[in-house]
Amino acid sequence: MVVFYEYSLVVNGGFFMNILLAAWDDNRLIGNGNELPWHHIKEDMRMFRDRTLNHAVVMGRKTWESLKIKPLPGRENVVISKTLNFKSMPDGSVSHGNLYDALEIAHLAVEDKLDIFIIGGASVYKEVLEKDLVDKMIITRVHGSHEVVNGGIYFPSFDETKWNVKVLSNHELFDVLEYTEK
Ligand SMILES: NC(=O)c1ccc[n+]([C@@H]2O[C@H](COP(=O)([O-])OP(=O)(O)OC[C@H]3O[C@@H](n4cnc5c(N)ncnc54)[C@H](OP(=O)(O)O)[C@@H]3O)[C@@H](O)[C@H]2O)c1
Repeated sequence: MVVFYEYSLVVNGGFFMNILLAAWDDNRLIGNGNELPWHHIKEDMRMFRDRTLNHAVVMGRKTWESLKIKPLPGRENVVISKTLNFKSMPDGSVSHGNLYDALEIAHLAVEDKLDIFIIGGASVYKEVLEKDLVDKMIITRVHGSHEVVNGGIYFPSFDETKWNVKVLSNHELFDVLEYTEK
């Protein structure tokens, strides 16, 4: 459970969560240079889009830079960065140099009525897990080991004993796992 009262938003009786979304392979590899380690997995991309549409997505600057289309359409894009000029962000996106403020901006952007999604990369995953700011994780477990050419980026280690894991669905190229806090 998120401990900071700002993020424990109870609106109309609902509790709106910080959900971490990530895709890792058998080695928990998530990135190759500033790209995904695997070729476009259409079904996973469609699931990502369906889950996040109309919600806010929070990401680090490098993940933002890796997006082919930015901002991600139909979503409030919140980028964490101390170097991006917030004034030059395109419509549908904002940048902020502080993680807590970025999360708060994301909740406010959807008027505290929807869950928000934390979509990477590794440095952001690490910080939100260390600071106990994640209520749920939805992980695409991509089958196999992938080649690292430009520098591998891995999902950070975290205390797995604190989470319940269940398989949400199985697919030809990947499985979807849900981690919920014990
Ligand atoms: N498989 C997946 O699910 C997935 C998802 C997303 C990304 N990725 C991959 O992950 C890799 C990128 O991850 P990464 O760790 O290198 O980069 P990242 O987390 O995307 O971005 C790092 C940058 O974000 C900013 N930042 C992060 N935390 C901050 C904080 N607390 N305060 C202020 N700024 C903060 C900093 O930007 P400034 O330097 O501008 O201050 C930092 O340099 C790529 O390979 C990408 O393809 C994979």
